[in-house]
Amino acid sequence: MHLTDRINRIQISPTAAVIAAADKLKSSGVDVADFGPGEPDFPTPEHIKKAAIKAIEENKSKYTPTGGIMPLREAICAWHKRELGSGYEAKECVVSVGGKHSIFNVMSVLVQQGDEVIVPAPYWVSFPDIVKYAHGTPVFVETKPEDGFSVKAAAIEKAITPKTKLLILNSPSNPTGGVVPPDEFERILAVCKKHNVWLMGDECYSHFTYEPHKPYSIASAAGSKENVIIIGSVSKTFAMTGWRIGYTLGPEALIQALIKLQSQSTSNATSIAQYAALEAMRGSMDSVPQMLAEYAKRRKRIVEGLRAIPGVTCEWPGGAFYAFPNISAHLGEGKHAHAKTCTDLSKLLLEKARVALVPGEAFGAPGYLRLSYATSIERIDEGLRRLERFFSRAEAAV
Ligand SMILES: Cc1ncc(COP(=O)(O)O)c(C=O)c1O
Repeated sequence: MHLTDRINRIQISPTAAVIAAADKLKSSGVDVADFGPGEPDFPTPEHIKKAAIKAIEENKSKYTPTGGIMPLREAICAWHKRELGSGYEAKECVVSVGGKHSIFNVMSVLVQQGDEVIVPAPYWVSFPDIVKYAHGTPVFVETKPEDGFSVKAAAIEKAITPKTKLLILNSPSNPTGGVVPPDEFERILAVCKKHNVWLMGDECYSHFTYEPHKPYSIASAAGSKENVIIIGSVSKTFAMTGWRIGYTLGPEALIQALIKLQSQSTSNATSIAQYAALEAMRGSMDSVPQMLAEYAKRRKRIVEGLRAIPGVTCEWPGGAFYAFPNISAHLGEGKHAHAKTCTDLSKLLLEKARVALVPGEAFGAPGYLRLSYATSIERIDEGLRRLERFFSRAEAAV
């Protein structure tokens, strides 16, 4: 089949591929210790579900304005102001079909052939492909485990060229859990302003940070409005991944362009999901610290468990719900090697140990594995037992 160059430039999300392989095994009755999914294992809070049911009963099932119902756009701005100290109005907000949709649309309206987009690595799988789909070129800036995978302003400035259009900064980060501290974030903003580069903050994990980190938005910094774009989502914060509601905050002219694009593509996000998101923004947030407390316990268990495996190192993630161990000691041709690459290793782990996780290559980080700890302590313990057993086998399986 003759497909466009555009679609041939990108690949299917590698995380989706891992999840599909694990699901296939599970559906045939195999007990898989599943560290694959990047989504909360908690249900959507009751009051949010009730708001959606009420919306259905009240027949809120028609098209809505393309950019989202006005009460939701207002509520997102009020929530973002209250929680993260920004100062947006509804006309500077558009509701989308999830954070990923927001990122895709921003790239579509700002990036074109010849433009470079800076992406700190390790990166979320979708960033480079979305940039490529928009005809841009991703430029990677490496972050280091000894810095907690947090990117520095000096490294960003070094990567900027006259072609640089935009920087994507995802803090807390998927896959590393790296958090950019506020003072460094402000230095990065100053660099972006100096070089006239857009700073796009992906805040999808904003409320899942561990001490000493706190939820933070660069939109709270003075003078940030002209070149900052904020991407947010109810997916992780409110355990609403399947509802598909995200948003973009930014200058009004950009929001107008995003609404124009949505008007010729998705139209509005699902009406009922918008009413659920409205309740998420306006209602009790008690579920958020409860989830965070549970993630904190799991983080401790998984990081300590991984560190106890010989040849495995693992930083403490500052946020999100992923552990990102380095297992390069187990790769290669040597006597303790199990596989040549992390991709091979993750296939072997699924096949032999019945453990599902995502290889670092998917995130531009060979030598690493990503384990989501959005799963119960019991399953974490079971998965760790299987990993210990697997890695303690001396024979090479290359
Ligand atoms: C870093 C990051 N950004 C954005 C998203 C998009 O989430 P959603 O489209 O569900 O809002 C994800 C989801 O995994 C993510 O990990």
